[in-house]
Amino acid sequence: MAEIKRIVILTGAGISAESGIDTFRAAGGLWEQHRIEDVATPEGFASNPDLVLGFYDMRRAALARAEPNPAHTALARLEHEFRGEVLLVTQNVDDLHERGGAARVLHMHGELKSALCTSCEIRSRWDAAMQQRPPCPVCRAPTLRPDIVWFGEMPYQMGRIYAALEACDLFVSIGTSGAVYPAAGFVQEARASGARTLELNLEPSEGSRLFHESRLGPAGTLVPAWVEEMLRPR
Ligand code: OAD
Repeated sequence: MAEIKRIVILTGAGISAESGIDTFRAAGGLWEQHRIEDVATPEGFASNPDLVLGFYDMRRAALARAEPNPAHTALARLEHEFRGEVLLVTQNVDDLHERGGAARVLHMHGELKSALCTSCEIRSRWDAAMQQRPPCPVCRAPTLRPDIVWFGEMPYQMGRIYAALEACDLFVSIGTSGAVYPAAGFVQEARASGARTLELNLEPSEGSRLFHESRLGPAGTLVPAWVEEMLRPR
């Protein structure tokens, strides 16, 4: 196999499942308990802001009780010890990659711990609840919304992500169902640029057959083992 110099890793809700964060599409997952149109679209926010702010307040509170698991810390170790480049692209809005020690993380679907003011359009770090309409720390208007990319909105950092996919030699997808675009299409972008592709997931994802290799099991076990392999002297 040719030497690997650049790795792009895409993560989804499955990597945080063992930290106690709910995934979306599992039985009993977030999208069984809530309608996507109600809590994850601009239209849902316009028609019932209380419900939407409360939903993300609940998720932010759950995040405060969660800790990074061995999959998060293993990826941080890879980022720091691999002799090439590692870029972590996550669909997750939690901060468990960063708390696990990762420094280069792109949050393509936004972050629970960020607030976006719909008046001044400035983002602020945010830990508290929003349902009581606290003022924006910059312009003082009570018009904060969660800095989350909702359905129908443009994911963040797409230019950087596609450039990295085009330049990578290895693309790894971890803990994502492959149900949501554009992330679900990254495997084909990477393959078209000649990269090897690997999936690490509990069960085959929707796009499983698009990967050169698929390993099935919990991220907390599979990811540290794969990182060991990548860091082993060749
Ligand atoms: P999903 O809930 O769709 O998929 C989670 C995947 O993780 C599934 O394929 C599970 O089999 C797998 N999984 C569960 N536990 C695991 C474990 N312990 N180890 C490894 N894999 C495990 O979540 P995402 O694919 O992240 O977007 O969902 C993508 C996007 O859809 C989310 O970012 C969110 C959602 O709607 C927005 O809200 C914009």
